[in-house]
Amino acid sequence: MSTYIPAASPDATPQEILRAGIDAAAGPVSLACSFSLEDVAIIDIAHQAGIKLGVFALDTGRLNEETYEVADALVERYRLKIDWYFPRHEAVEQLERTEGLFSFRESLDKRHACCTIRKVEPLSRALKGLSGWVTGMRREQSVSRCDLTAIERDELNGGILKINPLIDWSEDQLISYTEEQKLPKNRLYNQGYRSIGCAPCTRAVEQGEDVRAGRWWWENAEHKECGLHRR
Ligand code: ADX
Ligand code: SF4
Repeated sequence: MSTYIPAASPDATPQEILRAGIDAAAGPVSLACSFSLEDVAIIDIAHQAGIKLGVFALDTGRLNEETYEVADALVERYRLKIDWYFPRHEAVEQLERTEGLFSFRESLDKRHACCTIRKVEPLSRALKGLSGWVTGMRREQSVSRCDLTAIERDELNGGILKINPLIDWSEDQLISYTEEQKLPKNRLYNQGYRSIGCAPCTRAVEQGEDVRAGRWWWENAEHKECGLHRR
């Protein structure tokens, strides 16, 4: 039996998208949290609206210290319980022993191999038992995200729902919300970072560069997905 997926109206608020997605999922739903401005805003919006949402994070082993500081600030501010997921240690040991510590710079295949071990496999464990997951993706972020929908079926993850409440928010809207609500903010944003992932695969961007230009900056824009959001 296929679940009814509500078509969120074009002017639906993040709260409305969240509620509609959670209702449609009709089971446990969690936010995938990378501690970005987007994910922090979703935590705050859910908190203010009294929407119950689990939160999980994938600790790739290569995150910035500044990212952990945001996690800590969220625990403090919202009494948040974060379900951390780590990569399988045998897989990381094998990768580092055979390929070295920076193999992801050598080719797209090697980069995907690292993302598969450190992000995609742990994600598959994090999604077990969930009826839906929430992400901070926005259409504006990249060419690979411009055709996102607010609530979609994630066929590659067992057909559970994927809910993108900030889909139509601009970066300016996000920054205003963060400032108005005085939300915890990764200090790297003040150093020119606009999208933050693993430390060795993220850099600050220059003025005029794309928001995700600092992610895997040695690759072409259409390759800049790590496998978490394959569609
Ligand atoms: S990525 O695929 O390029 O790494 P991006 O950093 O834009 O993704 O984040 C998009 C969304 O993916 C985040 O808002 C969050 O929902 C999820 N996400 C990304 N990285 C993680 C992570 N390490 N742990 C949990 N969720 C993540
Ligand atoms: Fe590995 Fe870089 Fe992917 Fe992180 S973003 S999992 S370090 S390739």
